Amino acid sequence: MENEKANIKKDFSKVRCMKKKIFISRKLPKIIVEQLSAEFEIDMWEKEDAAIPRDVLVSRIKNADGLYCMITETIDREVIASAPNLKIISNMAVGYNNIDVEAATEKGITVTNTPGVLTETTADLTFALLMATARRLVESSEYLKSGKWETWSPLQLTGVDIYGSTLGIIGMGRIGEAVARRARGFDMKVLYHNRSRKPEAEQALGVQYAGFEEILQKSDFLCLLLPYSREVHHLISYKELNLMKKTAVLINTARGGIVNEEALCKALIAGNIWAAGLDVFEQEPISQANPLLTLPNIVTLPHIGSASIQTRMNMAKLAANNLIHFFNGTGMEKRVN
Ligand code: GLV
Repeated sequence: MENEKANIKKDFSKVRCMKKKIFISRKLPKIIVEQLSAEFEIDMWEKEDAAIPRDVLVSRIKNADGLYCMITETIDREVIASAPNLKIISNMAVGYNNIDVEAATEKGITVTNTPGVLTETTADLTFALLMATARRLVESSEYLKSGKWETWSPLQLTGVDIYGSTLGIIGMGRIGEAVARRARGFDMKVLYHNRSRKPEAEQALGVQYAGFEEILQKSDFLCLLLPYSREVHHLISYKELNLMKKTAVLINTARGGIVNEEALCKALIAGNIWAAGLDVFEQEPISQANPLLTLPNIVTLPHIGSASIQTRMNMAKLAANNLIHFFNGTGMEKRVN
């Protein structure tokens, strides 16, 4: 009897001490790994600069209780089904269109993201891209480096003015508001289009609500800052590009699927809009054969919206804390479902 009791006690303490298993889909900075290792049993994809192949991910999350992943991983129904113990998916990003949230919810799996910590950094990049595109910075730098700069001339490498122009923001969330604040410093008139009106933002930032067609027609700069979902796939396509000013600049730092790239390419070639600045693409990484890359009136970046050292560390910490809060039952994790 005494022996039996001792065995039961041992089994209970084993269960209590058994750490939850977390799979991390990309090599993370040491400090974050140490934080997670103190709480969990960790398995981590070894590479920093290469995404984990899907079949490797599937085989390594078989026994995982939690998954720490990046936007480079497609966590669809099939991947979710391959991890029967999974209770949480912590995405190190604010956007989570790489995850089938509906499938996760059906299985009772919590999905978390990293809102807030990347707002200002992404707004900085959006504005930097807007300025680089308007004033042809990349083209001008290449012009100089390739030895083409032989003289100053009146219309050489002329761009379009930013100050005093009209900025249209589609998607007035945290990042949209942060971009609107920056625009005020450039005396821009700011229009916004959003699912719902934002009276506080209108009051605080002096931004004006515009209908979808109106914002397309009136903007000198059109910034896409809305989350991606099936409903907004190719929101900007042939018809919408045709409604824009011939002098307009399109900036996309949200998700590539919002813009029909084929339509954009044709519009840039035909001069239906003046230029575009893209940080995101329908397929990432973009194929080197994509004709967009051959156009002079486009600035392209490799999805670096939140890429400051501090912000990427903050995102990594928040994604780790989401796992810790979830398993400790604090209720403080940033849930999306
Ligand atoms: C990056 O694109 C993010 O969603 O955080």
